[in-house]
Amino acid sequence: MFGHTRGKRSAVTCHLKCDDACAKHAPNETANPTFHEIANAALSRRMLLRGAGAGALTLVVGSQLVGGAPEAAAAVRPAGSRGGWDGAWRGGKGGSGNLRFAPIAPVDQLVDDFTVPEGYTWDTIIRWGDPLFDVADVFDAAHQTPELQARQFGYNNDYLDIIVIPWATDEALLVSNHEYTNHNIMFPETADAAMLACYRKVEMEAHGLSVVHLTRERDGAPWSYTVGNPYNRRHTVTTEFTLSGPVAGSDLVKTVADPSGRTVFGTLNNCAGGTTPWGTVLSGEENFNGYFVGRGTDQEARYGISTAATSYGFETIDPRFDANNAGYEQEAHRFGWIVEVDPFEPQDAPVKHTALGRFKHEAGSIQVGASGHVGVYMGDDERFDYLYKFVSKDTMDPDVLNPASRPHNKQLLTDGTLYVARFTGDSPAAEIDGTGTVPSDGAFDGTGEWIPLVREGVSLVPGFTAEEALVFTRLAADAVGATKMDRPEDVQPNPKTGKVYVACTNNTNRGLEGRAPADEVNPRTANRDGHVIEITEDADVTGTTFSWNILLLCGDPSDPDTTTYFSGFPAEKVSPISCPDNLAFDSRGNLWISTDGQPGTIGYNDGLFKVTLEGPERGRVEQFLAVPREAETCGPVIHDEDGMVFVNVQHPGEDGTWTEQTSYFPDYVAEGATPAPGDWRGPRPSVVQVYRSKRGR
Ligand code: FEO
Ligand code: CA
Ligand code: CA
Repeated sequence: MFGHTRGKRSAVTCHLKCDDACAKHAPNETANPTFHEIANAALSRRMLLRGAGAGALTLVVGSQLVGGAPEAAAAVRPAGSRGGWDGAWRGGKGGSGNLRFAPIAPVDQLVDDFTVPEGYTWDTIIRWGDPLFDVADVFDAAHQTPELQARQFGYNNDYLDIIVIPWATDEALLVSNHEYTNHNIMFPETADAAMLACYRKVEMEAHGLSVVHLTRERDGAPWSYTVGNPYNRRHTVTTEFTLSGPVAGSDLVKTVADPSGRTVFGTLNNCAGGTTPWGTVLSGEENFNGYFVGRGTDQEARYGISTAATSYGFETIDPRFDANNAGYEQEAHRFGWIVEVDPFEPQDAPVKHTALGRFKHEAGSIQVGASGHVGVYMGDDERFDYLYKFVSKDTMDPDVLNPASRPHNKQLLTDGTLYVARFTGDSPAAEIDGTGTVPSDGAFDGTGEWIPLVREGVSLVPGFTAEEALVFTRLAADAVGATKMDRPEDVQPNPKTGKVYVACTNNTNRGLEGRAPADEVNPRTANRDGHVIEITEDADVTGTTFSWNILLLCGDPSDPDTTTYFSGFPAEKVSPISCPDNLAFDSRGNLWISTDGQPGTIGYNDGLFKVTLEGPERGRVEQFLAVPREAETCGPVIHDEDGMVFVNVQHPGEDGTWTEQTSYFPDYVAEGATPAPGDWRGPRPSVVQVYRSKRGR
């Protein structure tokens, strides 16, 4: 029905979530060099010199070290960057590492169950359709209305944080986004136009973000959500957002409905995000292209916007989703941004920060430099697209729990410098043969630089105004020779070491004819299983040079057709892992990886994995949980000090139909039991908490 997919997700995921991105030509057609070509990239060098002045000269010349042996950079922990300021919002009591577990076995892709280690149990905190404001807004899948959905928890929750309130540690705010909708399982089929329009309005209200107040009886006890709490909030495709930064008010974002170019209705396809030290949440608008009908421009093509009808059909009920409608040519320019929502100020409109560029955003992970300047790491999840970083112009007020500091800190992302990454490998190109075999120096590694695109409202890219470089960031990054990556998803700094981890989820087009070949930072041809890169900034997050190495080449080590790499840890002792997506850390600095796509690659349900980073067990991968059939594991939150793990279970059972569901997560009925009349018999995307069985409720 939805066409062929290439070894990763179900066809439904590809169609709805990514607008069949994998079945289409990857939109980065540029011939900007791989890093093996950079030594000879005089063109790129001249472009930078013209645009960036003498400061850039030093950086560019300094990057021409292909084949050299970079000195091992010291692990940098920017003073006070995390664990103090940011840790305040976690409510943590210091890492006791209270999350010991025996890894679970991989779970077959047809199993419709949520699997946890022995000694642990799970339950949901909140599910799609649960009421936020009034217990009377009862979920009834067969009778959903837009008005009800706007007052209930949304669909396909992706980014998640559980922000323990520093002044009330038995209370927390759950902040989650809602990436997309699966209409094939949410609604009965219909040929009735009015009913179809109603479904689409429900879907609009099921997108966006939720803020939900939680309580618990004591530290370490499971959380419950509170209906009707004043913090509870829904932001959807129809609620108000404010544009900030250099593009706010620009002609490039004006529409007939918003001649000011400053107010946007809605947010779309929110994926990975981040929580700021000042207690707000960032959320990346990812595959926004799938909601718009374009006019066939080159700029639209670079962002994957096609001229065809969309699978969501929003353009059939709202003219702004079709750029061919007069006055709405620019509506798509108002999506593809990092959104900042303040869960502690329920009346504030969320802000879309244009200074952080427009692309298919993943992450938004903050690290604070020694100077107090704030850096934000971001991925652009597309085959052959780029890794970015933003550094604020102003410095953070470290007194983050003082309400007086918040107005200043909430302005930090409105002005600064946007960079894109260029990686250089240190091994001869001939040793990177596309198989994943480690080169003779023993590592996939090298150096890199952050190339500035826009600094404080001034473009550094020849031929682009600042507004153009921010609205068409992919094209600006093409022009400066950024490194084409294997779909950078989440990007997270380790609070213990300051090192930054990048999940490149996969790229089956790597090395195919006419496409960029394998290189040292994307070293596998037809990269089915993805990899994780470890970056060490030479100075701190504010700097412009770094070193890097590959931590993991993912896959099933027992598959003779796959070459994996686990930083030297014995492959026979790791849990198989594929398609790394979201990243998190526990208080001891262990990396936790959630996956999206294992059923299509290694045949197992997606899961959450702990990876040891330091000591003799570096590279050890241990599976902690598995999500149900056809679901993706998202938004892991690790509160190991409480012995608790939280994940979003996104798109369970999405290959089903209304009448033939394939998952019943999370409200399973005991075998042989009969569901009560009126019970919803289908899956509900949910927030799950995992904790030790003995605690119970
Ligand atoms: Fe929404 Fe790139 O995952
Ligand atoms: Ca090397
Ligand atoms: Ca994802």
